[in-house]
Amino acid sequence: MSSTITPINSSTTDTEDGPLFPASLISPEIIAILPTDYTIRPLRRSDFNRGYLDVLRVLTTVGEISEEQWNARFDWIASRNDEYYMLVICDGDDRVVGTGSLIVERKFIHSLGLVGHIEDIAVEKNQQGKKLGLRIIQALDFVAAQVGCYKSILDCSEVNEGFYIKCGFKRAGLEMAHYY
Ligand code: ACO
Repeated sequence: MSSTITPINSSTTDTEDGPLFPASLISPEIIAILPTDYTIRPLRRSDFNRGYLDVLRVLTTVGEISEEQWNARFDWIASRNDEYYMLVICDGDDRVVGTGSLIVERKFIHSLGLVGHIEDIAVEKNQQGKKLGLRIIQALDFVAAQVGCYKSILDCSEVNEGFYIKCGFKRAGLEMAHYY
């Protein structure tokens, strides 16, 4: 069976400002090759005040989200921290400058296989081109492998295909959508 996830006790993440998932799942190699003073780590509740939502705004519309709404969503995600792996890169001023998410789907097929879904990759505009996007994907790949995923998949626009190819992905299948 490929399911090797060990859920962490929810009390670990219910504390004031703990990491969303164990920091041991962050690749030491990626930590070591970030630009000086930059850090990569699991999302924290307090990232609301470090510009997390503004970074997501380079990707798409986010809407006006109050801190109360943020906390409620963070708690929901934290209660599923063997499924949601969201990480951030912060600069030397402790501002969030990049983020990415891995959502782990548990299947019956492929002998109860686990599939990683890479979502919401974003790097602040003036920080793009420093390999931060690449490091986010490499870090999410590391998490996916550690928790037992047999593959990770993502959807992207044509404009970003070259980026994901540089990250080691290849075109597979066709995305379709039904909006509600
Ligand atoms: N097309 C082709 N190549 C690219 C692109 C692109 N759009 N973007 C970056 N690259 C290349 C870089 O030139 C670099 O190549 P090199 O190794 O030869 O020098 C390599 O990919 C790595 O680039 P990074 O510096 O790591 O990229 P960056 O930090 O700028 O992040 C990202 C890329 C995340 C796409 C960023 O531009 C961004 O936030 N864009 C807006 C939001 C967005 O579109 N996010 C992706 C949505 S899809 C999803 O979330 C699953």
